[in-house]
Amino acid sequence: MSTEPQAPEDAEPQVPDEPAPAAEPLLEVEDLEVHFPIRRGIVVERVVGHVRAVDGVGLSVDAGGTYGLVGESGCGKTTFGRAVLRLEEPTAGRVRLGGDEVTALKGERLRRFRSRMQMVFQDPLGSLNPRHNVDMLLAEPLKVHGIGSKEERRKLAVETLDAVGLPKSVMERYPHEFSGGQRQRLGIARALMLRPDLIVCDEPVSALDVSIQAQVMNLLEELQGEFGLTYLVIAHDLAVVRHLSDRVGVMYLGKLVEEADSEAIYENPRHPYTKALLSAVPQPNPEIEATRERIILKGDLPSPANPPSGCRFRTRCPWAEDVCAEVEPEWRETAAGHKVACHFDL
Ligand SMILES: Nc1ncnc2c1ncn2[C@@H]1O[C@H](COP(=O)(O)OP(=O)(O)OP(=O)(O)O)[C@@H](O)[C@H]1O
Ligand code: SF4
Ligand SMILES: [Mg+2]
Repeated sequence: MSTEPQAPEDAEPQVPDEPAPAAEPLLEVEDLEVHFPIRRGIVVERVVGHVRAVDGVGLSVDAGGTYGLVGESGCGKTTFGRAVLRLEEPTAGRVRLGGDEVTALKGERLRRFRSRMQMVFQDPLGSLNPRHNVDMLLAEPLKVHGIGSKEERRKLAVETLDAVGLPKSVMERYPHEFSGGQRQRLGIARALMLRPDLIVCDEPVSALDVSIQAQVMNLLEELQGEFGLTYLVIAHDLAVVRHLSDRVGVMYLGKLVEEADSEAIYENPRHPYTKALLSAVPQPNPEIEATRERIILKGDLPSPANPPSGCRFRTRCPWAEDVCAEVEPEWRETAAGHKVACHFDL
């Protein structure tokens, strides 16, 4: 007689879990370049070179998802974000939002399209007109797009303030009357007024006290669910990006060097630059912290006007070999969804 346990006859047949349907990309960027001309000459100006701030970056962000873009100061993060929103004119490449080509839009069509994409800035004080009260600041984007009556705009402003955790009573107040955290809530409310699909958050919490940072990050997460937002979050702080993002891209001197799902980047960084960035972050777990090996990068960030030949990280890379100076590494997938630009599997 068999001793195999018998499945009860009325047991549900075991069906493997269906894979979740793949999310549609909302934002698709292909080979984006932004080169700024360097001009010299007092009487007759001539272009003597270009700052290659963004030098061929491609990425896509799923609808409702968050892509974190990290890298040190000057690597081109802000320029990339601005070019996606057409606040900076790309030198080359394509940007699509929901399948529509943003890079091809001009005039009135571009102006109308802008309502679908907004930006939250690092320093809300610098981006909010100090002579405008909250009512005016929040109504302005709607006015520019000719949306609603005065009453309707006010009603939407009050609703939006509520969504970001500010009371209606602040409507008559001016930006300087707010704390840093409240001001960033205001900046977020302003970006939300047009109910955009995409928000580019450029260093959204780096000007805030550490105690306030988590509140603002949590708010961004809540709003994402409530308003169905897609985020591109730019930060030099890896902790901010880790907290918010499901996908992370690491940028160095105008190019992506690594991209993967958030956990994979932090648990298994493959590019020497990512390894170095992560090795500088103290670990909360004391055992891991005790064995943390710091990778110190030699030298300074080279100029984006004259990036090194071959792999542009080679002047600072502890693993660089001769080939790195001669051949630019391919942007290749080393594991499912994990892309790296390095000649070696480190
Ligand atoms: N309008 C401009 N004209 C010329 N060069 C520019 C301009 N804007 C940015 N740059 C240069 O492009 C490069 C990338 O700058 P960007 O501000 O995009 O970097 P970032 O990664 O956002 O840096 P940070 O972390 O300091 O904000 C830098 O070398 C910068 O000096
Ligand atoms: S290609 Fe060479 S220089 Fe570039 S990251 Fe890899 S090992 Fe370092
Ligand atoms: Mg910046």
